[in-house]
This record gives sequence, C-alpha cells and structure tokens, in this order.
Amino acid sequence: MDPDLNPFAPGSGLKPPALEGRQAEIEAFDRLIARTKRKAAERGMLLSGLRGVGKTVLLNNFAAQAERHEWFVVQIEAQPSTEGRKATRQKLARAIEAGARRLRAKSAWGYVKDVLGSIGSFNISLGAAGVSATLGTTTGRADSGNLDIDLEELVEDLATAMAKSKAGFGIFIDEMQDLDDELLGALISVQHLSGQKGWPFFIIGAGLPNLPGKLSATRSYSERLFDYRTIGALDPASAADAIGLPMNELGVHLDADALRALVTAADGYPFFLQAYGKAAWDVASSKIVNLDDARLAIEIGTEQLDAGFFRSRWQRATPAERQYLRAMADDHDEASSTAQVASRLNRTASQLTVARSNLISKGLIYAPDHGAVRFTVPGMSAFISRQFEP
Ligand SMILES: Nc1ncnc2c1ncn2[C@@H]1O[C@H](COP(=O)(O)OP(=O)(O)OP(=O)(O)O)[C@@H](O)[C@H]1O
Ligand SMILES: [Mg+2]
Repeated sequence: MDPDLNPFAPGSGLKPPALEGRQAEIEAFDRLIARTKRKAAERGMLLSGLRGVGKTVLLNNFAAQAERHEWFVVQIEAQPSTEGRKATRQKLARAIEAGARRLRAKSAWGYVKDVLGSIGSFNISLGAAGVSATLGTTTGRADSGNLDIDLEELVEDLATAMAKSKAGFGIFIDEMQDLDDELLGALISVQHLSGQKGWPFFIIGAGLPNLPGKLSATRSYSERLFDYRTIGALDPASAADAIGLPMNELGVHLDADALRALVTAADGYPFFLQAYGKAAWDVASSKIVNLDDARLAIEIGTEQLDAGFFRSRWQRATPAERQYLRAMADDHDEASSTAQVASRLNRTASQLTVARSNLISKGLIYAPDHGAVRFTVPGMSAFISRQFEP
C-alpha cells in the first residue's frame, strides 16, 4: 500500500493511530481531574514499565487532558548523570514559566498572575535566573536557596491560585527514575505536604519498573502517595485493535489469521505492534492483507527491530558486558539472579559488579530487586539468541 498513507507510528513518544488498552488508566486520570474540580482528596499517579510499552504516550495524553481542563501543566523529561541533573533543573524552570504563559487566556490567570514573582524566585533558586527575567521575583517567597523550602512555597502559591478556579497544578515527569535524589526527594515531600494541606498539586510520573522502588528508597511513605500503575503489553483484543482499527479506517482489512500472526509476533508490545503494523501496510499489495503478507511483514519488521531498537542497545555494550547479557538471556526475559549470572560465567558476583553497573547506567538492564537484574526492553533475550558475534 502507499507508504505515504501508512498510519502506523513506531517511535519514541509518537502518538499511535489508535491508543488501545489503556482505558483504565485514562479513566483514573479523568477521575483525578473531576475530583480536583470538586476539591476532593486525590493522589498523584505513577506509570512504570519496560521500554516501548507506551508510557510517554500515556503521560502526554494525561498532560493534554489536564491542559484541556485548564490546569497549570508543567512537563519535563529527567536525564541521568551530573550534567543531566543541571539540564533537568533548567528544563523545570523553563517548563514552569511556559506553563504560566499558557494560562494567560484561561480563567485561572487572574489568580496566577499575582504569584508570578514566586516562579521567578524559584527559578533563580534552581539556578536558572535567565529564564525568568521577565517574571520578576517576590522577596520572601521561594527564594531561600533551599530547594525543599522554595519548592514548597512555589507549590503552595501556585496550587492555591489554581484551586480558586477549581483546577490543579500538575508536574508531568517522564523518565522519572533519572531524577537526582535531591530533586526527587523535594518533589515527593511537597506531594506529601500537599495532600495534608489540600493543595491540588500532583506529580504524574513515568519511568522504568524500578521507579516505585526508587521512590520508596527516597521517602518511605511514597507508596501511599501515588496511584501506581504498571504499564505492560496489551491484552490480545486491544493489540488486535491497535493494528486492525487504523487499517480499517483507511479501507484496508486483515484476514483473521494475518492479524493473529502479527499480534503474536508483537507479543502485545505497543512499539512492536506499530513496527509490524507499519511493515504489513507496506508489503500489502491489495486492500486485503493475507497471511502471506503478514509473514513477510513479520520478517521485515523483525529485521527492522533488530537493526534499530535492539542493535542500538547491543552496540552500547562492551564485549564483557555482552557476555553478561548473554548469561542473562538464559532466563529469557524474566529476572536473573546476579549470583546465578556469575556462576554461569564462572565468576564471583563481585567480579561482575562493574559490568552490571555499567549495563544499568547504559539503560540496558535494571535491578527489579536486590540481587536481581532484568532487561529493560521486551524481547531482548530472543534478539541476543540471534546474535552470533561475541
Ligand atoms: N496504547 C497503545 N496502543 C498502540 N500503540 C501504542 C500505545 N502506546 C504506545 N504505542 C506506540 O508504542 C511506541 C512506544 O511508545 P512510547 O514511546 O510512549 O513508549 P515508552 O514506554 O515511553 O518507551 P520508553 O521507555 O522507551 O520511553 C510508539 O510507537 C507508540 O506510538
Ligand atoms: Mg518514554
């Protein structure tokens, strides 16, 4: 079919042609908005899951939903490393200012404009003075230089202003596991305080499966502060719709066995569904996609995934780290015990600490529990078994 009309969107954070299987999360977020309007108590929300399951897409969907309800919306993506930490703070400053600007034509503006000085002061406290030159500053508000205090004062001022127009203040944080401990701790503390004070302030975060654990390690009461949602593979009916509906909308139909083959190959994972859907569209020569088309699409889609999604990760690993990954692949995509990986490699666990921690910082694996590791992407073990070079 004409590639120009291909509806599928394999990529990072790209809006899919049909957002399937996330109704429960979307309803939970709708409820948060509705309850905020009624000034009822609510919790923030955290989405966690492997790479490519659709966390960013869902987070963007929530942020857009909050915008439509005239919330004060701040969106950032955290970055690892020390430079990332500085960049994240700058981004936060910029995003708060941008959020304020977007409210100009909204009903909350009448209240928010009175506290713009707190944003200016807070941004200086974040080390982003230049960002807020136009906002001015308010002496004695969010200007102590202590992140905890300044964030608390900023949230109090903004959330109280938003409450007057029955809306909320939301900070949407992608890759939240990469936030530095200081900023993460300050954000969780202020979420805690907001609940007690009844301020409509919510952190909506997305990150890898180790995110809930990271939050609990930072502040032990975190587990009660958030509505934790695990985002994973789609159920078979939703997965079928994710491929079938966008095609049907353009007048293309899949034979039942063709659709089943594509959904099985993707194993319900959103990124893979987009990749196989795209390949199926490209190979189909008529408005009916049959099993032969699907088989060819699976071959092409798998090659493309191997060449991009998987190989880019594989190439980040050194030969020693690849040995580690190969030893993990014996457990398929389940968690591996670090002791067992070591014994497979005839080493002690401590001899492999460097390889293990490098693989974690490169984002290829994560520690779901103490003494365990797991791949961050679904299907990695099958990819590794297809690699013959060391
Ligand atoms: N519910 C869904 N139905 C169909 N396709 C989806 C769905 N959610 C996401 N996708 C598609 O899956 C791909 C990955 O989405 P997204 O980038 O949001 O994943 P992610 O979990 O944020 O991944 P990462 O951890 O790498 O950032 C995109 O191509 C997107 O269009
Ligand atoms: Mg993402």
